[in-house]
Amino acid sequence: MVWIAQEMIQSPVKETGVRYVRFLDTTLRDGEQTPGVALRPEEKLIIAMKLEDLGVDSIEAGYPSVSEGEFKSVKMISKEITESEVIALSRSNKADIDKAIDADVKAVHLFIATSDIHMKYKLRMSRSQVIETAVNAVEYAKSHGLTVEFSAEDATRSDLDFLINVFQSVVNAGADRLDIADTVGVMWPSRIMNLVKVIKSNVKGNYLLSVHCHDDFGMAVANSVAAIEAGADQAHGTINGVGERAGNAALEEIASAVKFLLGYDTRIRFNKIKDVSDTVSRFFKIPVPPNKAIVGANAFSHESGIHVHGILSNPQTYEPIDPTMVGMSRRIVLGKHSGRHSVEYALKMMGIEPSNELVMRILHRIKQLGDSGSSLTWEDFKRIVLMEINSESA
Ligand code: KIV
Ligand code: ZN
Repeated sequence: MVWIAQEMIQSPVKETGVRYVRFLDTTLRDGEQTPGVALRPEEKLIIAMKLEDLGVDSIEAGYPSVSEGEFKSVKMISKEITESEVIALSRSNKADIDKAIDADVKAVHLFIATSDIHMKYKLRMSRSQVIETAVNAVEYAKSHGLTVEFSAEDATRSDLDFLINVFQSVVNAGADRLDIADTVGVMWPSRIMNLVKVIKSNVKGNYLLSVHCHDDFGMAVANSVAAIEAGADQAHGTINGVGERAGNAALEEIASAVKFLLGYDTRIRFNKIKDVSDTVSRFFKIPVPPNKAIVGANAFSHESGIHVHGILSNPQTYEPIDPTMVGMSRRIVLGKHSGRHSVEYALKMMGIEPSNELVMRILHRIKQLGDSGSSLTWEDFKRIVLMEINSESA
């Protein structure tokens, strides 16, 4: 089935009856707000092309009002990207919306804070002023033919009746998508599930519901998945979870959980995940932690003897998914936790049919090295093998 823009806005359910989940990638906007990170327009374009290749539904290309370079990036990305929707962040005012229009986007991500603390100390606005500002901005953007995604910033610390009132007002003004922003990451899964259900049953109209989760308590991905399970149609995320403070929900993790655990449909081409993760890591100059889910170097690596034995008999024993599905590969690592199956496997890979005795002697050496606090390199392994083969034939 081919998705056209209007269908993507209106229908979260595919004809097959399998729920369809949308992804809005904000690596190039919220992700670039990572302290110390600044990308050049050409670098942003390369990442945008990778995101399009990955199959994200929307690419939040940037915040055109922030700087000339940012404006140029958004304009360049809008011109080049054809498969994904390109969306620009904009405060709820005409000047920002005009700047987004000048950057040639067809979709705008409007936001305004709805929590008392933000309204009082940041916006210095009353509740009714916030509603009026949001409605005017949505009407203005719609009058220019833009698709409108509206985020209530700090939604999760907002008074619930007021949040519903804001959302209902912007839907009545024509907003296509609503986004619950967990701006400082205070949700937990059962709580956001409840919030999604309350918003869906109280805000009437034709809109898609999204969530935007930050990772301040390490629950951004779990919260996004829980929100989707509860009925949210879309999640925002960034590749590798880059973003302000502890970062945003990692898009590759949400998408993998949605597809491989919940069994919902997405447009993500999962085998491209590793490539886009590497590109983002390189341009952001932020290494991917080895134990990071899905894309970390250790995500599909096995050292312990029991695990390797299981993996070599049937990979599903210790792998939730086949690593190639997300562009990764399996690694058998040798170290002091290894067992004879790993050594046998490594020797066979080198074209050696080892005797049981040779395997045990090599294993002994490997464990000795590990106990001395050293990690085993491939060069160490080859040296040990040579030494033991030579002593066997001597
Ligand atoms: O975290 C946040 O509240 C945001 C908004 C702009 C949606 O990034
Ligand atoms: Zn954010």
